[in-house]
Amino acid sequence: MTHITVSTKPEHQGIHIVTAVAPKEISPDTQGSEVGEIRFNTAEQKAVVSLGKKEKINLETFRRAGGALAKWITKNKVKEAAIETFSFADYGMAPDQIAFALAEGLLLGSFRFDKHKSKKDDPALSNVYFLDASLKPTIEQAVIICDATNLARAWAHEPANIINPISLAERVQDLAKEVGLKCSILDDKELTDMGAGAIVAVGQGSSTPARLIVLEYQPPAESEAPPVALVGKAITFDTGGYSIKTTDGMVGMKHDKCGAMAVLGAIVAAARLKINTPVVAVLAAAENMISEIAYRPNDILKTLSGKTVEIISTDAEGRLVLCDALAYAQAQFKPRAMINLATLTGGVVVALGSTRAGLFSNHDELSKALFDIGEQVHERLWRLPLDEEYFELLKSEDADFKNSAGVRKAHPIVGGIFLKQFVNDETPWAHLDIAGVSDWDREMPYCPKGASGFGVRLLVEYLRRLG
Ligand code: BES
Ligand code: MN
Ligand code: ZN
Repeated sequence: MTHITVSTKPEHQGIHIVTAVAPKEISPDTQGSEVGEIRFNTAEQKAVVSLGKKEKINLETFRRAGGALAKWITKNKVKEAAIETFSFADYGMAPDQIAFALAEGLLLGSFRFDKHKSKKDDPALSNVYFLDASLKPTIEQAVIICDATNLARAWAHEPANIINPISLAERVQDLAKEVGLKCSILDDKELTDMGAGAIVAVGQGSSTPARLIVLEYQPPAESEAPPVALVGKAITFDTGGYSIKTTDGMVGMKHDKCGAMAVLGAIVAAARLKINTPVVAVLAAAENMISEIAYRPNDILKTLSGKTVEIISTDAEGRLVLCDALAYAQAQFKPRAMINLATLTGGVVVALGSTRAGLFSNHDELSKALFDIGEQVHERLWRLPLDEEYFELLKSEDADFKNSAGVRKAHPIVGGIFLKQFVNDETPWAHLDIAGVSDWDREMPYCPKGASGFGVRLLVEYLRRLG
């Protein structure tokens, strides 16, 4: 058995990992000064992960150290590792939070998406032990949350010839059974009959039409309390429709379902953690395609809310599937709060890059809670405004309003203002535009290039804090 153990040496700012039996290939690595640098001592069979400068250490440091450790373990084909935990008391933070963050780094850093490759990537690490039995519940929670994040990542990676609205609905149904969630699927016919004209229109150009996927979680002690509603954009592919995207702009649009994948991951984790708050998740699935029967610019759609929308751009489809999903969630569940996640606009990528997601809300308290949790879990947000004046940009001659301003003004905000039309002022609501943070264009400290799973850890922490 090979073990990696964490121990302390006061002269080192870092976690000391000790392998009981070192695989021969392990080479003495770098001197540790940057976060995540690993030094291996062959004689002592110890690996030391550097945490960098002591003044700068926070939970993110431990996530990054965990990510570096995951990479190092993989590279050196270490089969089993143990982490000693007594140094955790030295950093002015709760030791179980440190263990949690380190476990997050290890588990998220081990994510691979190589199922479609003939030659697999190096296998992820197999076994890591934390040498402190009292951490068991903490580590079990980290495993549930990171598994859910990795699930969101894996499904986001699947291309549109594998995941379409229909196959997504089937997958979710199977998963719901496994996890013990109630699942109902509304197909395009039911959606049409119900009056959800917006989501149906977006999906109507595809041979796999729209689905509204509804998941419900009830805590073990049945609760009469209203649920939190999580709503996600699941455009399984976004060509732009007749307002077609450019060749370069279209690549990567399999990731246009990341909002819904985050919401799915969050409710799965909520169920596995048996949290005390009821939760519903509504996934608005459609494939934005071109065909003889696809929707067009200038079409006027009647949404589930009764409001009519004139289409200016068929590429502003996310808000259309979401407006029906929000109206549905609100009418059906009378939620105590409603949070939607969507890769909604390229404009938010211009404004905030890949560092923060856009946060829009009608409720200061909810907004602040989400912002603070974002700082804690390192899924960071930045609030943007929703002043009434922006609604001017959506005035339509022939319908209640338009789906896009048609000018390059305040894109992310206009998206938010559009969604706000479908939410009662009394319902605390937040919209997270995750277009810039849902997939990385390069490898990150604990995420390979590609889908990040952004939002799962944020939402789960929000739900956990509710009780
Ligand atoms: N899915 C895109 C947004 C997007 C862009 C996500 C880049 C990830 C990376 C969305 O449906 C879209 O096309 N938005 C348009 C809106 C516009 C037509 C109002 C945009 O941002 O250009
Ligand atoms: Mn689009
Ligand atoms: Zn889109």
